[in-house]
Amino acid sequence: MAEARIIDGKAFAARLRAEIAVKAEAIKAGHDIVPGLATVLVGENPASEIYVRAKSKAAKAAGMLSFAHNLPEETREAELLALIDRLNGDDTVNGILVQLPLPGHISAQAVLAAVDPAKDVDGFHPINAGRLMTGAGGGFVPCTPQGCMMLLKSVRRDLTGLKALVAGRSNIVGKPMASLLLGENCTVTMAHSRTRDLAEECRQADILIAAVGRPRLIKGAWIKPGATVIDVGFSRIESARGETLLVGDVQFAEAVKVAGAITPVPGGVGPMTIACLLRNTLIAACRQSGVEAP
Ligand code: GUN
Repeated sequence: MAEARIIDGKAFAARLRAEIAVKAEAIKAGHDIVPGLATVLVGENPASEIYVRAKSKAAKAAGMLSFAHNLPEETREAELLALIDRLNGDDTVNGILVQLPLPGHISAQAVLAAVDPAKDVDGFHPINAGRLMTGAGGGFVPCTPQGCMMLLKSVRRDLTGLKALVAGRSNIVGKPMASLLLGENCTVTMAHSRTRDLAEECRQADILIAAVGRPRLIKGAWIKPGATVIDVGFSRIESARGETLLVGDVQFAEAVKVAGAITPVPGGVGPMTIACLLRNTLIAACRQSGVEAP
């Protein structure tokens, strides 16, 4: 069997970001709107620092305003809620992103629920999660699953009736991903750490979304021949030769021989998250000004 088609998320995201920059330019010229994104980071998690910096840089590169709020680890929940309240009331801020995870003494649920749903460009507010789950529309779809769906649809236009397995039940990826796949008429199974036979569940899947955060957990022999594999994992591991490698949740070298199409790590899902964040921020700015998104 031929090797799988590699789904180039890096190139897809670059095109999407260029399109968003053009649209941002158009709403500036036509309506004097400049979308503003506020990022909120609490503490010094090195990975989170890198992600937030990249989001802020990408917003500026797309012609948007970026307001970075970096708070110390010991910030109290009440202080964070007060900042969210200020950002909710600030007309120059169209999108608010609170980077997760938050330190243990802060309730992420309380903080995410405090973000104005109209500015919730991460799509994590219960109202936006509910809109996605019910199919009501008009909300914001979380960035990573939104990006996964775009990559999936770039290789399989019609997903109707296909069996999809979502491995991982997080609020950030797994649960919203399942809702999106249901919306595309897939038959969706959710697997997680307590699933009895993950390998067997995987073997049934025409579409496999790997979002468990366990490096190279999913082996080539678990994949149905011809399946489309979207790998959301992103872990640093040390190779036998002592080099640091970035790997996904799927054993890529094996899977590429079995799958029909597969996203690489890095260069697959990762770049799509930021591109979709910019997309949500542009949409937020247009909705808040009563202008149709270009
Ligand atoms: N932590 C991991 N992924 C994400 C994300 O998409 N958004 C935010 N805010 N935090 C995250």
